[in-house]
Amino acid sequence: MTEIGVKTITVMGLGYVGLPTAALLARAGYQVRGVDVSDRVVDALSSGDCPLGEPEVAEIVKQALASGNLTASKAPMPADAFIICVPTPVRVDKTADLTMVRAAISAAAPAVNKGSLIILESTSPIGTTRDVIGAELGRNGLDPEQDVDVCYCPERVFPGETVREILRNDRVVGGLTKTAAERAKALYESFCEGTAVTTTAEAAEYSKLMENSFRDVNIALANIFARIAEDLSVDVQEVITLANRHPRVNVHKPGPGVGGHCIPVDPWFLIEGAPSASELLRISRSINEGQAERLLDRAEEAGLPPKSRVAVLGAAYRGDLDDARESPTEDLLNVLQERGYEWSVHDPFVRYMKTHNGVPSNLTDDLDAALEGVAAAIVMTDHSAYRAVSSETFERMAGRLIVDGRRMIHEQSLINAGFTVVPVGAPTAVPPATATMPPKSADAP
Ligand SMILES: NC(=O)c1ccc[n+]([C@@H]2O[C@H](COP(=O)([O-])OP(=O)(O)OC[C@H]3O[C@@H](n4cnc5c(N)ncnc54)[C@H](O)[C@@H]3O)[C@@H](O)[C@H]2O)c1
Repeated sequence: MTEIGVKTITVMGLGYVGLPTAALLARAGYQVRGVDVSDRVVDALSSGDCPLGEPEVAEIVKQALASGNLTASKAPMPADAFIICVPTPVRVDKTADLTMVRAAISAAAPAVNKGSLIILESTSPIGTTRDVIGAELGRNGLDPEQDVDVCYCPERVFPGETVREILRNDRVVGGLTKTAAERAKALYESFCEGTAVTTTAEAAEYSKLMENSFRDVNIALANIFARIAEDLSVDVQEVITLANRHPRVNVHKPGPGVGGHCIPVDPWFLIEGAPSASELLRISRSINEGQAERLLDRAEEAGLPPKSRVAVLGAAYRGDLDDARESPTEDLLNVLQERGYEWSVHDPFVRYMKTHNGVPSNLTDDLDAALEGVAAAIVMTDHSAYRAVSSETFERMAGRLIVDGRRMIHEQSLINAGFTVVPVGAPTAVPPATATMPPKSADAP
């Protein structure tokens, strides 16, 4: 068995990935020092609180703090191992922004000693572990292949299931050397149940980007099937169910776009690295980014008055989460702004939504207030609560138009109550009385 040689661990970046990882390491008996540049995060942890809302994460974090095995600060201290979990966003021009990875390793490097294990977990372009982490350690007088063990180990967690997934998912562990990979594998297998598979740092970096690009392309394909269905007046949901009865077919779910920290971002790292070979990835991005605009186009075709006020239901990128990062709702707000609409965004979980170019989010947790007097409601997030919204609640709207980007409202009861419904992947459905009205012009079908 490989000797891990690790008792103390510094985790750089205490967000959705770093904090539960730190807490689970602490629970396994390691002395973990969590480091974050945010006063809010460090202050909360120093008072025994968890800055994240996911209940299972909050529970293990509080236990780890109470045990004394997890502490938080803003400054890295020497440790046997360092794990870096800081954000890796794309810039407006879609190039990778590695500023935070550079800052984290440059803050940690003076505390790294010979024999330390350094693991980058942040999703990163191919070559980052060698060219950014290895190079910075080199500048601090450490040979990244001789003096220390440097690895890349991507995280695959599904928000909402973070603890279970950190513990149970298999991991890919890529080392700058085989010894480094074996040592990191032993560390992960000491506190996780999944298998850690070793490889090179570059293969591990690529595998993470491949996984999320695969998902983005498949969601884009589902969205294309939805657009075809809308144009040809077929219901894509039924057709997907039929097609998925084929033993080797698994068509994904269409929707209002793709959000979160990973899927809308990671394909750009491959596109930047190999632009001429990545045409499919670029097209898929553009399809998924265009879904919100297409929903608004269809709402306008269904009679949404220009520059009216609309209610956007959901800021989070996925149902029953409080995470609005890179959410399709932001794509929609950008188009609403461009076309001169007014809006409010309702979300039962999200309390803060970062938008760009000065576009206000107008966020509220009061659904009645959001719907009051609007011309249309546009469902963007599959929060369970939206399944239960009755037609009486929608009666507060001034208009009678509902766009369902998630196929989750009670479509038929709303149509029966006199609403026009625009569902993603199916033709616009109008109330029976309207449907039997004579065509508006001689040209109409
Ligand atoms: N959230 C997910 O579900 C998920 C899943 C897989 C992979 N990832 C990847 O993991 C990485 C981290 O993502 P996250 O969701 O945990 O991010 P996050 O924004 O939730 O947390 C990152 C934390 O790092 C801190 N930070 C920033 N710069 C720092 C620095 N120089 N030193 C110390 N701390 C610093 C921030 O203050 C923040 O608290 C990203 O590369 C992301 O793509 C995330």
